[in-house]
Amino acid sequence: MTTATFNAAQDDLVYVEDLLTALKAVDLPLLGDMLSHVLEASGKRLRPVMALLAARVNEYDMDAAVSFAAACELLHTATLVHDDVIDNAATRRRKPTANVLFRNSTSVMMGDYMFAHAAELVTRTGNLRVIKLFSRTLLSMAYGEVYQDMTAYAYGQTLNDYFKRIGGKTASLFATATEGGAVLSQASEPVIQGLRSYGYNLGMAFQVVDDVLDYTGDESSMGKPVGGDLMAGTMTLPAILLVEQYPDNNPVQRYFSGKNKAQSLREAIAMIRESDICDRSMKIAMDFRDRALEGLAGVDSKEVREALEEIAGYVLSRRT
Ligand code: IPE
Ligand code: IPE
Ligand code: MG
Ligand code: MG
Repeated sequence: MTTATFNAAQDDLVYVEDLLTALKAVDLPLLGDMLSHVLEASGKRLRPVMALLAARVNEYDMDAAVSFAAACELLHTATLVHDDVIDNAATRRRKPTANVLFRNSTSVMMGDYMFAHAAELVTRTGNLRVIKLFSRTLLSMAYGEVYQDMTAYAYGQTLNDYFKRIGGKTASLFATATEGGAVLSQASEPVIQGLRSYGYNLGMAFQVVDDVLDYTGDESSMGKPVGGDLMAGTMTLPAILLVEQYPDNNPVQRYFSGKNKAQSLREAIAMIRESDICDRSMKIAMDFRDRALEGLAGVDSKEVREALEEIAGYVLSRRT
């Protein structure tokens, strides 16, 4: 059911890739090699596609939209480079991570370089509102990651803490991708806000699904390690629901307090997999998706709306 608009946005990804490729042409060969490695086109490119679709909601300014979409992908990829250093992850997008190939310190600097470049790309839109939006997103994402790191092994986290955390680290960029696209296309304010809400809520659904897949997915289709969130002390939705269900005695609490760590971790994972917790988590993801779809009500273009609906369906069914 892929629409012509969806296909057109995917065609324009070629120009996004061109901008990302141009980034690799630097004087320092090692930096160029590192950028080639992390920017290779094996990511899903979900954020730039969403930005390009939102940019077609009214008047399509292709140059601005493409620069903005590339900035979103670059910002995303930079956060993944940093995230893999923090998590000590060995694979990403089916390949060895930068931290494995080039050391942690080098990877952090490369991530910073990409953040700086993303900021430069977004200035090419010449749109002050979009530049402000993008800077605030940088701040939210950095805050979300710091918050996650500082609350690792903090037991007693609530659903609200979790939603705040994933709102910052993931949904903020999805929201910016669609809001920014809509601003660039000079859509009306209600349409811009609707698309922002679509992006935000779909980003929430996306991260909830990612957190479920960390318990149920497999490494070969995901192209990255799974099963590590709880081990790293990250309380995601499934673990929070387990603790809510058994507040007085549960393996998450035992794991966090350092009691029989290996066994407690195994027990927690088994309980989450064998109970209805993953289904309940997916139900929460579906609620976010439904809220996302409500944001499309004011979108006149049937083709843009259908393409964004298709992405919403994909987010819930993905295994990669
Ligand atoms: C991974 O994002 C990080 C999360 C927000 C869960 P993606 O799953 O979109 O990563 P790529 O770009 O396709 O590799
Ligand atoms: C998303 O969270 C990371 C960022 C938004 C930077 P995860 O920690 O779940 O991402 P993965 O699972 O490593 O891709
Ligand atoms: Mg991670
Ligand atoms: Mg994850």
